Amino acid sequence: MKIEGKEGRALWFEDEAIQFIDQRKLPYKLEYYTAKTVDECAFAIKDMVVRGAPAIGAAAVYGMVLGINNLDKTAETLRKTRPTAYDLFYAIDYMIDKVKKCEDPLDAANEYVEDIVDRCRRIGENGEKLIKNGMKILTHCNAGALATVDYGTALAPFYIAHRKGKKFFVYADETRPRCQGLLTDWELEQEGIPHAVIADNAAGHFMKSGEIDMVITGADRIVSNGDFANKIGTYEKAVLAKENGIPFYVAAPISTFDKTIKSGDEIIIEERGREELAVINNCKIMPDYTKVKNPAFDVTPAKYVAGYITEDEILKKLG
Ligand code: MRU
Repeated sequence: MKIEGKEGRALWFEDEAIQFIDQRKLPYKLEYYTAKTVDECAFAIKDMVVRGAPAIGAAAVYGMVLGINNLDKTAETLRKTRPTAYDLFYAIDYMIDKVKKCEDPLDAANEYVEDIVDRCRRIGENGEKLIKNGMKILTHCNAGALATVDYGTALAPFYIAHRKGKKFFVYADETRPRCQGLLTDWELEQEGIPHAVIADNAAGHFMKSGEIDMVITGADRIVSNGDFANKIGTYEKAVLAKENGIPFYVAAPISTFDKTIKSGDEIIIEERGREELAVINNCKIMPDYTKVKNPAFDVTPAKYVAGYITEDEILKKLG
């Protein structure tokens, strides 16, 4: 199944509406979701029609275009959708600034999206240098084109390395409960990059058996001291990587770096609904009485990070 969106993108603005690839339906069906109003855009972000920090930011700039006549209320509605990914807040502030400067809102939103796509491409070019022939690399969640409009963050180095003819293998964590690993699987499959999905619990086994040479993940918010929030399960992968002497890299553009927060302890972790754990593909996998806890993200301390792959360079340390 190929992405048949506009130029293979996760979302775009057309006919006065935001068009999304509906990520809730992937990898089984390629369907689209149209948001004509701010509330529909907010729903798309909240319900994860669109997901991944930079893609959420892109949805937000277009959401601001839809609600341009009531800017403060639009910003408030969109800010309430998801609390952890910094790109959402960065994108809303960007649009407020542009409107204050009397720039055309749709032009400003389009510029934002093109800029993010270009930053992700540059992340790919910088991160590609870390990939050597024969390497086996683990990634967690989905930080590919779907999560960023195009190219991806963690997956961008894979695309570029593959296009340059490098031979390597990717292990994709399944990433319960939303199984974003299947989106990574779908993207790598289309690109023809050799890979396999593994159960989240299997990552330690593969690291200890010498099957993994490097880990690259994306991030939802990276704060001043280098701590970062990413999909739940990232922290334990980082600890296991350190224990096994495996370098752990984080890939993200400027819009994910939150300079207003000093330490990861201050990051708000989104708690999501029971059904994400209790129901899979409309099938109940837990009895009704089962109570669950479902934090969507965790925070990895900076001491576990070998480097931050950004659009400008690979930084060994922040702050
Ligand atoms: O809840 P999601 O799917 O929006 O979360 C996205 C992630 O946590 C990804 O791991 C990703 O690395 C950050 S966005 C490129």
